[in-house]
Amino acid sequence: MEGFTIPMRLVPRAEHGAHERESTVLNQALAIANGKGGVGKTSLTANLAAIAANSGWEVLVVDLDPQGNLGADLGYQQLGMGDDGAALSKAVQFGETLRPPVQRVRPHLDAISAGRKTRELAQVLHERGRADSAQAMDAAFAPLVDRYDLVVFDCPPGDASLGDLGLALSRCLVVPIKFDSGSMDGLEVMAARVRAARTSGTNSKLQLLGIVLFDITRNATALRRQVLEELEEDFHQGVRVFETAIRHSQRAAYDMRSDGLVAIEYEQEEEAEREARLELLKIDRHYLSELGPAKSASAQGIADDYTSLTNEILEAFSDPSPIRSAAEIARGDRMARAGAGPR
Ligand SMILES: Nc1ncnc2c1ncn2[C@@H]1O[C@H](COP(=O)(O)OP(=O)(O)OP(=O)(O)O)[C@@H](O)[C@H]1O
Ligand SMILES: [Mg+2]
Repeated sequence: MEGFTIPMRLVPRAEHGAHERESTVLNQALAIANGKGGVGKTSLTANLAAIAANSGWEVLVVDLDPQGNLGADLGYQQLGMGDDGAALSKAVQFGETLRPPVQRVRPHLDAISAGRKTRELAQVLHERGRADSAQAMDAAFAPLVDRYDLVVFDCPPGDASLGDLGLALSRCLVVPIKFDSGSMDGLEVMAARVRAARTSGTNSKLQLLGIVLFDITRNATALRRQVLEELEEDFHQGVRVFETAIRHSQRAAYDMRSDGLVAIEYEQEEEAEREARLELLKIDRHYLSELGPAKSASAQGIADDYTSLTNEILEAFSDPSPIRSAAEIARGDRMARAGAGPR
């Protein structure tokens, strides 16, 4: 896996701060959200965080979903390192100092885990109301985030209050979609949630960084064009659809979640196993059965997809200029051409 450069920490850490925000925005926070379930939010969170950490970014992932799948994807659930959401719950409800319960699950990567206690917290916050909840979450995270270059919130599906709090705290939002019949409906709902966050004062700075096409089996270029057209109508603003789509591979996805490996690690294991197989074949093919079933042949492709996508996301995240719509870009190009032409 070569040819990708992950941007080095370009996000200034000190720009956030209660004094300067009318809403609860953490400058280095990115929410991965879509009200629709099973569209790749958690897979994307785990892989993005792990690749950024692998490139030297100090990363904190925050699981806001009581399902706790992020723990399986990063492997800390299998290792019994999670806390069922207790740390976050105590910090938000009782003002205890928030210390990520999962420390260094990879070099440069800490996690705030979720589970049973997250479900209880969601209920409590729902009763406390949105403004109060956002303030409590902000108070819990503000002292912590200066240690990180990137904080990624894995938001739960549905319109759960915790998902909205992930949006309330984040400067940017990335929405993965799985292109089945209901996907575009999910986007309309997300567009409405972004508008609500911006206009209600919960988070007037929230920026939709882009859409990720997830679990794609067909031509991604045609799909991107189609999605772009529909999006601009729904979101009434410039919307980026990231160039890199994540290809379909049920087998790789299944293996990665069961083994607690992200794609770049799964690829390494696949390669090592492939070499071991060849060695064994040279000796005696009967030994092959000891290796178990081969890993997915898509391992390298999926790892490349996530690496290239992470590169795109982090570059966009590090660029403070506003996102332009396709129409604005076309207008800009026309004006540039007119300006450059003969007078
Ligand atoms: N590249 C892929 N190809 C096919 N299936 C995949 C791929 N990546 C992940 N999956 C599978 O898709 C399912 C949904 O993925 P994931 O859990 O990341 O989505 P999610 O949006 O977080 O779901 P939820 O809304 O339940 O939190 C999982 O069963 C996962 O194993
Ligand atoms: Mg999930």
